[in-house]
Amino acid sequence: MKSQSLEKPFSDVELDQRAIAILRENEWGGYTLPTRGLYPFQWNWDSMFVALGFSEFDLERAWTEVETLFQGQWQNGMAAHIVFRRDDPSYFPGPSIWVSGQNPSTSGCSQPPVAATVVRDLYEKDPEIGLARLKEIFPRLMAWHRWFHMMRVISGGAAIAVTHPWESGRDNSPDWDRALSNVDPSGIADYTRKDTGHVDPSMRPTNEEYDRYLKLVEYGRETGWDHARITREGPFAVADPGVTFILMRADRDLLELAKVLGAQDSAHEITTWLYHAEEAADYLWSERLGAYAARDLRTDDSATGVSSVAFLSYYAGISIPRRDARLQATLRRILEVSKYSIPSFDPEHSRFDSKRYWRGPVWVIINYIVARGLAEYGFEREANRIRLDTREIIRGSGFYEYFDPICGSGAGGGHFAWTAAIWLAWASPMTD
Ligand code: GLC
Repeated sequence: MKSQSLEKPFSDVELDQRAIAILRENEWGGYTLPTRGLYPFQWNWDSMFVALGFSEFDLERAWTEVETLFQGQWQNGMAAHIVFRRDDPSYFPGPSIWVSGQNPSTSGCSQPPVAATVVRDLYEKDPEIGLARLKEIFPRLMAWHRWFHMMRVISGGAAIAVTHPWESGRDNSPDWDRALSNVDPSGIADYTRKDTGHVDPSMRPTNEEYDRYLKLVEYGRETGWDHARITREGPFAVADPGVTFILMRADRDLLELAKVLGAQDSAHEITTWLYHAEEAADYLWSERLGAYAARDLRTDDSATGVSSVAFLSYYAGISIPRRDARLQATLRRILEVSKYSIPSFDPEHSRFDSKRYWRGPVWVIINYIVARGLAEYGFEREANRIRLDTREIIRGSGFYEYFDPICGSGAGGGHFAWTAAIWLAWASPMTD
């Protein structure tokens, strides 16, 4: 598949209809596939953005999306990054490679925890419909957040680590390059990739990266998915500004939900997590980059370039004046050199690649959360720019998985659920 632009521009009303149709087309019972073929199961954060999209026209269905995701929650609290339920020959690595030992079958790592924030949004849309459902889901959200705070930090640390690039949701970001090069892929079982049969290989991770992704899966499987051990001793553990800031925001939203429910013990527990928020931000701050950056727990190295998640500090409720001036300057520089914001990686860095997955392309879900945080802190101009860019790329190219920040063309999978959802919930002029 080539990268795409729409041949005939659709009107905004047609795009609204098209977006609803895409969510419906990708529905599979009570959950939604990111897109058919390339991603034939339920993905964690995809589903939560999809729930936001559904909440624009079917709030009941939005709650169901959240509930089905938690069918894949482990006893130890982890909400898995993929809930498989069944195998599918068009996807690799499927349940027989992960061997999660769960029912329904899942992958063995997690994904950025946007759920509590989305649940708060759904609840506030209609507290009457939401209260009963919130009561059911709340303990599950608590257990998942607790899992992150216990299993994905090393004692004394506060920033949340990912132990597989897939856990970050930003699979092949240059943020992981160095740590991944320290993973020795020798001895992995033979395998055949399926992703490159669906999408142009120049838009996907390389085979060298894939070998290491699989090595990390094999390692986790061999530990019997002992998550604490994987974080402590495994071949890959990198503190991620994306997951750290998303969880921090989700903790704040969960605290508000605890108050709604009068759940004092939970509120107290969440407050103890948030007590370490600034410490986590301090750990991730790179004075050299003028931005928050991933940091390898094994070597202490910081990432060498700026990823779009660096700007999630506002969304997380972190504002430290002496740093914000620099962070804003970094953001302005990146916005200036990008026709379409926000490139997932700094366009002025040698590792930037406008087409390859998380090494440059624009992802509208990141745009949405970054802009939401910026707007909350009064950076209206930047937030608007990002929102209008999102509107323009979707208008110009349709509902692709991600977009080239230079020419705006769509790339990766088409008919993409989260792009449709973000259009409906935030980018469409209907939401003005
Ligand atoms: C890719 C993305 C990840 C997403 C998944 C399904 O793996 O990197 O963030 O959840 O596709 O869309």
